[in-house]
Amino acid sequence: DLLPAARPRTVLLAAPRSFCAGVERAIEVVERALEQWGAPIYVRKQIVHNTHVVADLEMRGAVFVEDLAEIPDGATVVFSAHGVSPQVRAEADRRGLRVVDATCPLVTKVHTEARRFAGRGDTVVLIGHDGHEEVEGTMGEVPERTVLVESADDVAALEVPDPERVSYLTQTTLAVDETEEVIGALRERFPALRGPTSDDICYATTNRQDALGAIAEESDLVLVVGSDNSSNSLRLVELAGRHGTPAHLIDAVGDIRPEWLRDAGVVGLTAGASAPPRLVEDVIAALSGLGPVTVTEREAARETLQFQLPPAVR
Ligand code: F3S
Repeated sequence: DLLPAARPRTVLLAAPRSFCAGVERAIEVVERALEQWGAPIYVRKQIVHNTHVVADLEMRGAVFVEDLAEIPDGATVVFSAHGVSPQVRAEADRRGLRVVDATCPLVTKVHTEARRFAGRGDTVVLIGHDGHEEVEGTMGEVPERTVLVESADDVAALEVPDPERVSYLTQTTLAVDETEEVIGALRERFPALRGPTSDDICYATTNRQDALGAIAEESDLVLVVGSDNSSNSLRLVELAGRHGTPAHLIDAVGDIRPEWLRDAGVVGLTAGASAPPRLVEDVIAALSGLGPVTVTEREAARETLQFQLPPAVR
């Protein structure tokens, strides 16, 4: 039969989970732009990588586009939380678009570092995932001096003009443990390597990984709420796997397959930084329909960070 047996379950709820400060700010930017100037408000790319957030804002009058060319002259455009390259900024300027920038301040920080490191004559090695919007934006700062590596293997193949002048940066949503490995490989090849004070993986990514790491081994199954293009959500699924626990990414409660639950007495539950908290509540409600559920929250860190809104919508 398709239904998992009705049985008592424990849900280990990872904390922190779900929205980070950068995502909350980006969503609020679009909401406020809609209030201030009315629909349509154009948004370049998904404001954050979550299908529910995008659909909700679409209903309220946001129009998501892949390219500025799709936006009429003089209209208002919001840049997504992942940031944009200077080339995109220049084009928006040329087109006379009113720009409201929802780039997460922690992404902006990486852009600033890219300019600073390249400015002192270094080759900038960006550790990140090819094709991700944040990587495209960061690479665009100083494209002629920036190279992308995805893994320690890529480091072995790297060629730079001067091995004494190499700096690294990272995407904000990488796996902490894997990134340490890549930085280690870089340091071995380039002993004079310089970088940011720690790395650029943001507090929210780190906290969500720490929180899941603390419950993964006790869990029979891990569910990560998030969309399939959400980098930090995908990293959580992989992290659970490295702890030896089967894990699945679910965009919403409907994605849960009954067979996953059959032998799962302890379900670890978390959500990526772009996934709305209500989706986690939906999962708990659905599990409660399959027998008594005890929810135990395990808090690995407390988050209080909030970012100011951009002046245009403050
Ligand atoms: Fe910013 Fe990190 Fe969230 S870079 S958007 S705080 S996942």
